[in-house]
Amino acid sequence: MNICITGALGHIGSALIRSDSLRSVDRVYLIDNFLTQRYASLFDLPDGITYSFHESDILSDAMRPIIRDSDVVIHLAAITDAETSFHKPEQVNKVNKKGLRHIAKLCAEYGRFLIFPSTTSVYGVQEGLVDESCQGKDLKPQSPYAESKLYGEKYLSTLAKKNGLKFVTLRLGTIFGYSIGMRFHTAVNKFIWQAAIGQPLTVWKTALNQKRPYCDLKDAISAFNHAMENKIFDQEIYNIVTTNLTVKEIIDAIKKRVPGLNITFTDSPIMNLLSYEVSNQMSLEKGFSYSGDLTESIKHSIRKLRNANSSVKITV
Ligand SMILES: NC(=O)c1ccc[n+]([C@@H]2O[C@H](COP(=O)([O-])OP(=O)(O)OC[C@H]3O[C@@H](n4cnc5c(N)ncnc54)[C@H](O)[C@@H]3O)[C@@H](O)[C@H]2O)c1
Repeated sequence: MNICITGALGHIGSALIRSDSLRSVDRVYLIDNFLTQRYASLFDLPDGITYSFHESDILSDAMRPIIRDSDVVIHLAAITDAETSFHKPEQVNKVNKKGLRHIAKLCAEYGRFLIFPSTTSVYGVQEGLVDESCQGKDLKPQSPYAESKLYGEKYLSTLAKKNGLKFVTLRLGTIFGYSIGMRFHTAVNKFIWQAAIGQPLTVWKTALNQKRPYCDLKDAISAFNHAMENKIFDQEIYNIVTTNLTVKEIIDAIKKRVPGLNITFTDSPIMNLLSYEVSNQMSLEKGFSYSGDLTESIKHSIRKLRNANSSVKITV
């Protein structure tokens, strides 16, 4: 079996491409255009996995022979920062919409399986516990990024009806956890970075006591592997969520490792006054499983940054 992973050098991809389960794969195509300059993700790749790295854009013709030669495509490549997506809607449309259409059409044409990572941000303004039955006008993405992911979900369903595309959509909670291509603009990781290098934590004014869905990176990787191993390409959507947490709970966990941290409250274009949780019940019923742990993951990430600023007292 051959696998193609687009956006392979990013936060999720750089961990996924080191996954032990890839040892049984014949060839792993890694596609990335270095938009985010994560060259280090290619350092020290494990022996015993056959990689084929291509510095290519997902919109380029180079994707055709690669997808033709792959059995499964895991399409991670995207413009991924929700907050800055307000300033670059054209780029978001080009990569996240047109790019997905290009990849999905090739998958449909060659009968390849597609895994599409969407985001729990498609739920947007909700209250209480939500699950996959929340649909249509009740989904309220709050940024061009989240809107592009919802567009992608709908596009794949339409293509599946028209061309029989076999795909699964995994709506991931905000990822936390170390990888060599880790990025730091999402809640948990951003706070870890700020705490470890001695900056005040920038917390959105309204966010402190609101619950939001999060996903441990290792649970996301295990979800991709579970979908592939069990051929879960049933054209469904599954929430992949380790836990629902308030920002206060996250900060308290970081404070145990960085006791002297400070907080500054800020405004954000995606402030949302409501608190909501996302259910992972449907994924559990399909055999997806969770072993992620926020406390352990925070400890691991902070330990990696423990010498970044010796004036910051860190206990790990
Ligand atoms: N990290 C999260 O919290 C999270 C949560 C939900 C969903 N997701 C989704 O998971 C996927 C991976 O997320 P991530 O955190 O690893 O993102 P990331 O930004 O760390 O990585 C994305 C990678 O895609 C590459 N890329 C961007 N445009 C490209 C293009 N046109 N052609 C080829 N490569 C391109 C970038 O260089 C980068 O290496 C994304 O689709 C994202 O929307 C992520």
